[in-house]
Amino acid sequence: MSTIRPALLADLPLLAARLSPLPLFTRYGHTATRLEQLLGGALGRGEQLLVIDADGPRGMAWFLTSGTLGIGGYLRLIAVDPTFQNRGTGAALLAAFETHTFAKSAHAFLLVSDFNDGAQRFYERHGYVRVGALAGLVLPEVNELLYWKRRPPAS
Ligand SMILES: CC(C)(COP(=O)(O)OP(=O)(O)OC[C@H]1O[C@@H](n2cnc3c(N)ncnc32)[C@H](O)[C@@H]1OP(=O)(O)O)[C@@H](O)C(=O)NCCC(=O)NCCS
Repeated sequence: MSTIRPALLADLPLLAARLSPLPLFTRYGHTATRLEQLLGGALGRGEQLLVIDADGPRGMAWFLTSGTLGIGGYLRLIAVDPTFQNRGTGAALLAAFETHTFAKSAHAFLLVSDFNDGAQRFYERHGYVRVGALAGLVLPEVNELLYWKRRPPAS
């Protein structure tokens, strides 16, 4: 059984160790130590950091619920333990991001690396639309693709 809950500082070493082998983090130079520092910084600033717990943290969603372009939330990072993917964990974390964000903002934004075809497909299947690209924003040779989803009308 798995639960989504706010991350604790004590989660970060195991979470970072489980996520750091992902090729995305290798490409951006995020070792387990660096990832732990980044996530610790997020907690320190009071940013939203949720983990999915199944025998310890297996995945995370790091986000801001408002302020992006003055009108939206921003998914900074979502990632799932490579041994725990393709069973709906990412979808559950993305839904949690949207629940928190759409309670405060009418729009959700995120960036995806141009080489990250799997994540682009994942977001598109969940209703995100590619609306632009920021060339070389983080790594000089990579375009960061901007995706947007509008809050669905209340049913
Ligand atoms: C993107 C990411 C978070 C998705 O996590 P995940 O747990 O694999 O997500 P899900 O299981 O919800 O969905 C993944 C796929 O599994 C399939 N799936 C979902 N539930 C399933 C199930 N019960 N059985 C089999 N397949 C399933 C989905 O159809 C989906 O297919 P898609 O890739 O074509 O969309 C994960 O691949 C990841 O951590 N990637 C590396 C980090 C990254 O790139 N993050 C995004 C940065 S912008």
